[in-house]
Parts: sequence; C-alpha cells; structure tokens
Amino acid sequence: MRKTTTRLRLAGALAALLLSAGAPVAQADEQEPPTLAELAQRHGRYFGSATDNPELTDEPYKAVLGTEFDMITPGNGMKWYATEPQQGVFDFSKGDEIVNLARANHQRVRGHTLVWHSQLPGWLTSRAWTADELRAVLKKHIQTEVRHYKGRIYAWDVVNEAFNEDGTYRETIFYKTLGPGYIADALRWAHQADPKAALYLNDYNVEGIGPKSDAYHQLVKELKAQGVPIDGFGLQAHLALQYGYPSTLEDNLRRFSRLGLDTALTEVDVRMYVPADEAKLAMQAQWYRDMTEACLAVRRCVGITLWDYTDKYSWIPAFFEGEGAALPWDEQLEPKPAYFAIREALK
Ligand code: XIL
Repeated sequence: MRKTTTRLRLAGALAALLLSAGAPVAQADEQEPPTLAELAQRHGRYFGSATDNPELTDEPYKAVLGTEFDMITPGNGMKWYATEPQQGVFDFSKGDEIVNLARANHQRVRGHTLVWHSQLPGWLTSRAWTADELRAVLKKHIQTEVRHYKGRIYAWDVVNEAFNEDGTYRETIFYKTLGPGYIADALRWAHQADPKAALYLNDYNVEGIGPKSDAYHQLVKELKAQGVPIDGFGLQAHLALQYGYPSTLEDNLRRFSRLGLDTALTEVDVRMYVPADEAKLAMQAQWYRDMTEACLAVRRCVGITLWDYTDKYSWIPAFFEGEGAALPWDEQLEPKPAYFAIREALK
C-alpha cells in the first residue's frame, strides 16, 4: 500500500530515463521518489489534502491520499450539520473515520470547522434565538466537538468566513445575535477544550492584501491585545485563472507572521473554465508553483493543504458552473503539470 500508482509511474519514468542514459537500473528500483509530504518536511512544512467520507471506498484514491500527504482535513465530516444534526445529539462518526484513517497513515489532521454560517443544521437556522440561548448553543457545540477530538487535532478552523469582501463583518446568525465578540468567545471556548490545538481563523479571498485581509489583520491585532488565544490565519486559496494571481500573497503572509501568527494555505485549488487545455494547465501549474514558493519564503507559513487532490472529487464543478480541473491530479488520478510544478517548488 505504500507505493502509490503515481510513485510507480514516476519511478518507471525515472528508470526509463536512466536506462537511456546508460545508468544502472538498480538505482531507480531502490530509491522511490520522495512524496510531497517528504519534500515539504525538508522545509519544516506539511503538505496536506482534504478528503470526504464517500470517497473512502475508492482504493486507488486512498492509496495516494495515504502516502503523498502528511496532513488531512475532513471536507465535510466535522461541520455542524454533520456533528450535531439534532440539538444536543452529537455524531462524530464521519470525522472519526477520517481521523482514524489519518492516524493509520501517520498523518496529522486539521479540524474544519466549528463556527460557520454555511452547512448549519436545520434546527439551528429555522428558529430565532436570544443572545443567551445562542451563546449557550455555540459554546456547547464548540466544546463538545473539540473535547471529543482532544489531542488528535493539530489545528482547528475555529471561525470560518467571518468577513465580507469589503472588510465588514458578515451578517451571520452568530454576528447578528451575539455581535462581533462571538469570535473571541469561540476561540476562548475552543482553547479551554483543547489547550494544545492551534486555533485559526480561516477565509477565502484573503490571499492578497486588500480590505478583507486587512480586516483580519486588524482583528488579530485586537484579539492578541486582549489575550485571546489565536495561533493562525488560514488562507483558503480557492483561486480561479480568470481572476488573476494574488501577487501580494507573500507580503500578506509575512505581515500576519509579524503579528506572531502561523499562516497556512488551507483549501488550495485553482479552477478554470473547462475544458482544460495545455495553456490553462501550464498557467495553473505556475500558480501552484508560485503559491508553494510564497509559503516556503515565509518562515511561519506552516503548510499547504489541497481541497482534495484529484479532479475526481473536487467540489468546483458542483459549485461553479462551467468550471473545474482545479487540482493537481486529474479525474483518472494522473498527476497534472501542477503536480510536477509543486514538486519543483519543494525541491
Ligand atoms: C465545501 C465542500 O468541499 C463541499 O463538499 C460541500 O458541499 C460544500 O463545502 N470553503 C470552505 C469549505 O471552508 O468548507 C468548503 O467545502 C469550500 C469553501
């Protein structure tokens, strides 16, 4: 199970190359090419992938998932609708399955996500709550989930997507009922439940410097000044070729480092209008290379997670009409130019 098809193919290609160069084949047989995780580890970083429970019956998929990466994020299994489907009735079976798989493969886990306006259970969204009621519901949800996974989660995305594009607070049920203080409360409650887990705020469209990432920068400063436990800022990095590359990514990562925070690229994909062609795949590869290099250039950028690794299980086609081909492996689990670009950046 340790040899993935990808690695076998790479080894095969290498053997052919060495043969044609007249080098002994034995060398290629003995040395498997390093995985993305191994390459990242040489820089003190991790390289991860999201996964989701329905995919875990796909053995070739699981083989690559289990070898190429050293960090796993459940794509859905730890969200509120999955973990507390009825008020006060918790179900951790989906998250457990992924945590157990990660453990079997010697991988760490990013927990995703405790507080988010999306994928909430119906019982929570279909009625009105007083501030006291909702505060109690939120605290219980956070602490029950974090306690359940105590010691098994490297980092939690405690609050996901708290800001609008213009840097104002997103008017979620939590913000509207509890005010902006719900973020500090959520971080404190999570910290009480697992003091060793790193606690993150996480969002999209915050890769470059702009109103939305500025809002996080300001919020983190305030949280730090108030002694609120906050360890990291997660940049989802759901990029799209038609919107251009966020050229201020490295500077942005650096300014959060200067606040004493870890940063991570937490949900990376680079979508395009399909069908893909050679030019689009080349540009996509360049973006993956640039993102990887930006993270490596900033000491406190701790790692990169793909939002699943293969186009076979990408969320993009279902959410962005006419778009896809966003990940470094194609639908047949064959590595694309982006995969080789990441490897080169990590070398
Ligand atoms: C996505 C999942 O990948 C899909 O399977 C699900 O239907 C919707 O959510 N930002 C996030 C992730 O923080 O939780 C989202 O995941 C993608 C966008």
